[in-house]
Amino acid sequence: MDFKYLFTPLQIGNVTVRNRIFISAHSKQYAVNNMMGRRHAHYYAERAKGGTGLIVCDMLHVHPTSSSNFTKACFVYDPEAIPGLKIVTDAVHEHGAKIFAQLVHSGCHGDGGVYDDKWRPVWGVSGIPDFGIREPCKEMEIEDIQELIESFAKAAYHSKEGGFDGVELHGAHGYLINQFFSPLFNMRTDKYGGSPEKRMTFAIEVLDAVRKAVGPDFVVGIRISADELVSGGNTINDYKVIAKKLVETGNVDYINVSSGTYYTSYIFTPPMLLPHGFRTYLAAEIKRVVDIPVFTVGRIKDPLLAEKVLTDGQADMIGMTRAQIADPELANKAREGRLEDIRPCIGCNQGCISRLYLQRGVTCLGNPAAGREERLGVGTIKPADESKNVVVIGGGPAGMEAARVAAIRKHNVSLIEQKDHLGGQVNLLTKVPIRAEFGDLTRWQENQIRKLGVKIQLNTKMDAESLKEMKPDVVIVATGSTPQRTGFTEALPLRNEMPGVNQDNVFTVWDVLESKVDFQGKNVLLIDNDAFHEAYATADYIAEGGGKVQIVSWLYHAGVDLSPTHDIDLLYRRLIEKGVTFTPIHIVKEIRGNQAVVYNEYTPKKEEIIDNIDIFVLAMNKSPNDSLYKELKGNIPELHRIGDAVAPRRVQYAIWDGHEIGRKV
Ligand SMILES: Cc1cc2nc3c(=O)[nH]c(=O)nc-3n(C[C@H](O)[C@H](O)[C@H](O)COP(=O)(O)O)c2cc1C
Ligand code: SF4
Repeated sequence: MDFKYLFTPLQIGNVTVRNRIFISAHSKQYAVNNMMGRRHAHYYAERAKGGTGLIVCDMLHVHPTSSSNFTKACFVYDPEAIPGLKIVTDAVHEHGAKIFAQLVHSGCHGDGGVYDDKWRPVWGVSGIPDFGIREPCKEMEIEDIQELIESFAKAAYHSKEGGFDGVELHGAHGYLINQFFSPLFNMRTDKYGGSPEKRMTFAIEVLDAVRKAVGPDFVVGIRISADELVSGGNTINDYKVIAKKLVETGNVDYINVSSGTYYTSYIFTPPMLLPHGFRTYLAAEIKRVVDIPVFTVGRIKDPLLAEKVLTDGQADMIGMTRAQIADPELANKAREGRLEDIRPCIGCNQGCISRLYLQRGVTCLGNPAAGREERLGVGTIKPADESKNVVVIGGGPAGMEAARVAAIRKHNVSLIEQKDHLGGQVNLLTKVPIRAEFGDLTRWQENQIRKLGVKIQLNTKMDAESLKEMKPDVVIVATGSTPQRTGFTEALPLRNEMPGVNQDNVFTVWDVLESKVDFQGKNVLLIDNDAFHEAYATADYIAEGGGKVQIVSWLYHAGVDLSPTHDIDLLYRRLIEKGVTFTPIHIVKEIRGNQAVVYNEYTPKKEEIIDNIDIFVLAMNKSPNDSLYKELKGNIPELHRIGDAVAPRRVQYAIWDGHEIGRKV
């Protein structure tokens, strides 16, 4: 395929970027002593080597009062940060990419106790607490504002000293500069607030100070949320005025267009529920009013879509951020026409942003090497000393990853699958339209193992005897798991079985997704012990198919694990619109005919009846399918067990297990 625009260079200020693909800022919790360093360098170098044109690095905080609530936030206000920055920028430049520093003050979106050294008051524009963190903040005095303007300038200077090609002011996502722009945060009556023009004063003064600090030849850009997407917030029309005004200062070299504030934070790192390229229209609108490069970003994972956005003139640079977390070689593969080899980002957020919100290092569900490049990066899978006959049993994500890595290492790999297709449990999940994109990853795995010559045997149930006949050197058991039908929950560890669970109107989530349940027009009670997509995507599936769903969960709030992945807002909205109801902190004591006997965990003696239920659906624990493993133990020279067959967990663990064992055998 021909890319007419994607691989053409772009001039941004005085910097020429080699192509139109960039990685937008993403913080990662990799910092040591709140400084960037080696881990960042390896991470970014891998992507620079993989062909990306430009990287905007993690948010760098310009002042000690800025945190954005991440314990390992990177500081740039301290000159001691400069050597670490240099390690990163040198590593990127070695591979021909450019790198800008994203400079931020998080304003009221902070937690004054997030750093260990001491506790500080959070600084806000007007003393209005942030929607997400809700910490009371100090309304900044004029001297505080002056101090921060100087801090931005100093940070920009440190970035230049640290070898960056430019800086990007973070004026989006509800952070301080965005808070100044926004009528929802800025209630000031001095020169920094009171009218749309005055609300721009802070940004204009910061730009001016930064420009003075770095000189005319250094790139200075700004990221904006071109629609705050909340009632009373700035809209695209407001941001067209703001963008024009900022550009008129002569201090801005590019605008990077995002959307949302913490009122709509799901939009920053859009989950699978949002369409590909959903935000390009905003960049196009900004592009109408400015004459400098405009960047777009948001669920663009397909280089063909990136090319189309350029062809349509909607933007000049295309952010493919998680797409390059998932595959650091995306740009090179696209340039070489190897689109089918690009490991797809599926928008699951299970390895990246959710880990950030849990204060853990960012990685990727499908790419175990992400964030671990020094050890596991491109080129580190080496041929084995001796080629062995490796038999993998089970063609789910764990088994396929094990087969893929073992085959790269030149082992002779066979993959045996009981069903007539590969993909394992992911195939069930993808029956739910809103989770269908998960299938992109297992299709990629299948395609890769086929290309690597793995011998795939479908419709084959293995036992110890038939396996021995294959004379394997190594057997990897990836036989998955099966949902429990007992209604067991860790909330009641002494109860082995929920009374009534054997009634014939009780099913599992899998039964529903395997089309074994006629739920149309029926009252369905979904008993949730999962708190994630198995329960909530299935609820969506049933509601979409005409079932009337109630969810009972013993957890503090329904679908609690959907929050770090940013799925919860959109999924709640969908479910509530379809009439799905949630009853958290309730235990199902018993199923009795068409009734569920439940109680609030805090008033266990007060039973309540949920009546008129036609169908009960269990979204409960699973048990490992480990019988084959146990049968083989001691009878096979080298035996391993991976994925759900070890302990039923989420897909990222299965892929990790497969990857690790593929490297070991
Ligand atoms: C782990 C992670 C951390 C992020 N941190 C930042 C950040 O520090 N600053 C920022 O402006 N955006 C941040 N973002 C948002 C990304 O820049 C980008 O807008 C988002 O991932 C959507 O683009 P994509 O669909 O191409 O991934 C982050 C995203 C991820 C996945
Ligand atoms: S964890 Fe999921 S959303 Fe994040 S980069 Fe990987 S595939 Fe994409």
